[in-house]
Amino acid sequence: MKEKLAKIKDDALRQIESSDALEKLNEVRVNFLGKKGELTTVLKSMKDVAPEDRPKVGQMVNELRDEIEHVLEQAKTKMEAKARESAMKREVIDVTLPAKRNLIGHRHPNRIVLDEVERIFIGMGYEVVEGPEVEYDYYNFEALNIPADHPAKDEQDTFYVTNDILLRTQTSPVQVRTMEKGKLPIRMIAPGRVFRSDEVDATHSPSFHQIEGMIVDKGITFADLKGTLAQFAKELFGEKTKVKFRPHHFPFTEPSAEVDVSCFKCGGEGCRFCKGSGWIEILGCGMVHPKVLKMSGIDPDIYSGFAFGIGLERITLLKYEIDDMRLLYENDVRFLKQF
Ligand code: DAH
Repeated sequence: MKEKLAKIKDDALRQIESSDALEKLNEVRVNFLGKKGELTTVLKSMKDVAPEDRPKVGQMVNELRDEIEHVLEQAKTKMEAKARESAMKREVIDVTLPAKRNLIGHRHPNRIVLDEVERIFIGMGYEVVEGPEVEYDYYNFEALNIPADHPAKDEQDTFYVTNDILLRTQTSPVQVRTMEKGKLPIRMIAPGRVFRSDEVDATHSPSFHQIEGMIVDKGITFADLKGTLAQFAKELFGEKTKVKFRPHHFPFTEPSAEVDVSCFKCGGEGCRFCKGSGWIEILGCGMVHPKVLKMSGIDPDIYSGFAFGIGLERITLLKYEIDDMRLLYENDVRFLKQF
């Protein structure tokens, strides 16, 4: 019996030794320790052993079982460590490979110009405020001195939600909303989307953007308006830029003007850009009409102010020499990336 056990031990250890895969080890386990395994068979044949030898043989078999199990376990641990190590070697990361490129967007040219305009006015102490795009007729027209029968209402035909609610045609209603708050002095710009019932073409869109500006304080004069806009034009279009105020009419300002800047492409010589005139129109402005101040609860005998409205797209198109407004709304990254 002793020799038999010694042989089993020998065989088992040799087989474990020569195993090169986990499955092989498992086979060895089954062959020796399994239900029909060699060692199990020995246990089953205990009935043939003399009764007085049985405890001794039993102990030997159990010890051998423990030993084989132990060696199997060690072999398995070793094999697993080796497998892990070679997997790590195989999966080593090549940091010199080019990375997957992340597609990130690009600031829209309108946004780039608006950021610049905001930076300039914030630098002059203005605050950036916002108003609703869906607006009351009162704020969009009435409180801006555009009564129901005023022809200016025809020029700014828009989309009505109800009889007295509409998509705002201009950012000027934010002037009224700011004045109504009753906090003086006011020094704000209000950028935002506006709407008009216009057909789409190279220079029109039913939805575009304006930047409103307003100052209300004691002793504000047209000289302040002129100085402010001259400084603004210099910062946006270059130090040499000149401004020209042409008399105009807006119902909510008196006097009113349209402002041209000297062409920043040709410096005023006249080119394709300024259509030969040397000047480019960029905004409307004026001194806030006393009636407008009064309607919003501000005493025009104590306070005065100026206001202006800039067409954002107009400036973007000029600045980047884009000749079709529709390109701004298609959001094709290949186009936007150029700016
Ligand atoms: N709201 C005017 C428009 O859409 C532009 C404008 C003109 C705004 C004069 C102003 C201003 O604040 O003073 O045509």
